[in-house]
Amino acid sequence: MGINSKTVLITGSTDGVGRRVAERIGAMGAHVILHGRDRTRGEATAAAICAAGNPNVEFHRADLSSLAEVRQLAGDVSRAHRRLDILINNAGVGSGGPRGVRETSADGYELRFAVNYLAGFLLTMLLLPTLRASAPARIVHVASAGQSAIDFDDVMLERGYSGGRAYTQSKLAQVMFTFDLARELAGSGVTVTSLHPATYMNTTMVRQSGVSPMSTVDDGADAILNLAVSPDLENVSGQYFNRLQAARADPQAYDAHAQRRLRELSLRVTGLASFAAKP
Ligand SMILES: NC(=O)c1ccc[n+]([C@@H]2O[C@H](COP(=O)([O-])OP(=O)(O)OC[C@H]3O[C@@H](n4cnc5c(N)ncnc54)[C@H](OP(=O)(O)O)[C@@H]3O)[C@@H](O)[C@H]2O)c1
Repeated sequence: MGINSKTVLITGSTDGVGRRVAERIGAMGAHVILHGRDRTRGEATAAAICAAGNPNVEFHRADLSSLAEVRQLAGDVSRAHRRLDILINNAGVGSGGPRGVRETSADGYELRFAVNYLAGFLLTMLLLPTLRASAPARIVHVASAGQSAIDFDDVMLERGYSGGRAYTQSKLAQVMFTFDLARELAGSGVTVTSLHPATYMNTTMVRQSGVSPMSTVDDGADAILNLAVSPDLENVSGQYFNRLQAARADPQAYDAHAQRRLRELSLRVTGLASFAAKP
């Protein structure tokens, strides 16, 4: 099936590399489902894709710091679309916050863990029936090379908080989920990969953290699109990429015991009781 028959959801596509991926995949002719938390930015992105020649674009608003809004987004997308060929979990909050103060989500969870990881976990799990029905389908997690091990005794970082630690822990959680879910999906025709898109792209997140940008959003979009659409990666699943190359992630991401703990915690805090735990 050609890209112009495919439906693609990109979270956090109102800014940065997510917006660029949406524009580029839109230019290839896919049906583009944009997501963001700001309707004005979402509609402006949709208008830009439309003006570039692709009218098959729609915007869904949801604040991913609220699990109720994640559920609403998943429900809206699965009701509106019989198929979803590519899900790109890209939305994220960077390491820079208000003076290093710990922030929490609408549900009371540590904010970066909630937005960068838990929201993508819940969205993916709720959209899995649609993705499975659309196989071959792909899930891509936009993580980072910045990863730090999860302390399962203090996942919500109530002690020793820093924005950097919160960010890198959430990114490791995305990679760990990639490996765990890939096993679950083996043989289903749905692949799942994660990646570091590029180092210090020129985006709002990087500018807010006070770092000088080192790469462009197109560098990151090249790497994300490689995982999302490259025919060479058709059956590749359960892998982490540093830009365009398969790479090793933080060792904890491969730890089966840690994967199980993360899955159990994620099912519990998102209220997904019906997803049976594996033996
Ligand atoms: N920039 C880098 O160098 C770099 C390096 C490695 C990995 N990454 C990863 O790449 C991804 C994209 O980052 P970026 O640099 O493009 O950042 P960005 O320009 O700040 O864009 C982030 C996107 O996520 C959305 N978002 C943030 N919080 C949200 C929330 N609570 N609910 C809904 N949407 C929310 C933003 O919406 P608004 O438009 O409303 O702000 C925006 O669309 C992130 O996962 C990041 O961790 C980036």
